[in-house]
Amino acid sequence: MAPLQKVVAVYGATGVQGTAIALSLLKSQQNFVVRAFTRNPQSEKAKELARLGAEVVKADGFNDNDMKSALSGAWGFWLNTHHHDPAVEQPGGPTDEDLGNRLVEIAAAAGVKVFIYSTCESPALFTKGVAPVPGMDAKHRVELYARTFKEFDSVIGAFPGWYFENYITPEYAQAFGGFPMFPDNEGYLTWKAPLVGGEGKVQTVSIKDDFGEMVHGMFLNPLKWKNRTIQCVSDAFTYDDMVKTFTEVTGKKARHVPLASADDLPAHGNSVMIELQDVFRYTQTNNGWFFGNPDDFETCQSLKDEARRDKGLEPEPVISMTKYFIKHYGPN
Ligand SMILES: NC(=O)c1ccc[n+]([C@@H]2O[C@H](COP(=O)([O-])OP(=O)(O)OC[C@H]3O[C@@H](n4cnc5c(N)ncnc54)[C@H](OP(=O)(O)O)[C@@H]3O)[C@@H](O)[C@H]2O)c1
Repeated sequence: MAPLQKVVAVYGATGVQGTAIALSLLKSQQNFVVRAFTRNPQSEKAKELARLGAEVVKADGFNDNDMKSALSGAWGFWLNTHHHDPAVEQPGGPTDEDLGNRLVEIAAAAGVKVFIYSTCESPALFTKGVAPVPGMDAKHRVELYARTFKEFDSVIGAFPGWYFENYITPEYAQAFGGFPMFPDNEGYLTWKAPLVGGEGKVQTVSIKDDFGEMVHGMFLNPLKWKNRTIQCVSDAFTYDDMVKTFTEVTGKKARHVPLASADDLPAHGNSVMIELQDVFRYTQTNNGWFFGNPDDFETCQSLKDEARRDKGLEPEPVISMTKYFIKHYGPN
């Protein structure tokens, strides 16, 4: 007899994180049905997911009825709310925490058994209130709230590091001095950022190469990871090593110019950049540990291994910074 189908609902399925998770789960041999949520099933990304076998469902997270019906019959639920979405940044309006908590409640009532949340550890807790990062602290509280629901068999937090994808995104390159895309007046690809603290390593994850498979691995064995907040990291490296490697890979001149303080990172009133100033203050106060604790590569690799085994693929190491730069900027 064929094993029972398990519907895994993926919120934000057309986004960076959601797409990676949906694409990995679609290749699973577990009889998962991938239910991809989007506000616009006619978008190219949504149509591509449907073409690959996802059940695409129109659902807006702010609409309770949409969410109740989209979660009906779901066994698993991946939730990643974007906390810089203008909809959760309106004064007096619902916050990202309100949205997350509401979706937790709806998922529990709908009978979801496995709830995996794109989370953060709490900088306020790790630094004893010295260097809070309000958006991260709020996500941590949503995760704790979810754990109070007896309806779930397992609640897991997946905590992504800094995206490797930021290094192929022009807006991030511009915000940090141009590296690795735009040379400055002296012909250098310059990375300008505050110091990270501790050993100066930046915990970085490729959402496309690794994160999707890590979360897939969590869905394969949810009781094993129950009530864990799992750091998701592919590689960790200093900014000095990063620019040096980039030059070795591409032959282009690159340099790291440290900024004296987190305040010196230009924010221009942008909420993402203001939060990043807070993040640098946090890591400077917390030994350079973005995840709160020292890096754990073993768990990430084991989750990736389990997902690849489930897809019938050969094992593959999580991607390194060198390989990422070769893949995107190396000689053809
Ligand atoms: N950049 C980094 O280094 C980094 C690192 C760690 C964590 N993060 C965090 O990751 C989060 C962003 O995730 P992402 O990169 O996957 O974002 P993204 O690519 O912008 O995707 C967000 C998705 O959410 C969906 N969505 C937005 N509003 C919705 C609503 N009202 N109802 C239903 N769906 C809605 C959108 O789908 P539709 O438009 O199809 O509806 C969209 O595809 C942020 O909280 C960010 O801070 C980022």
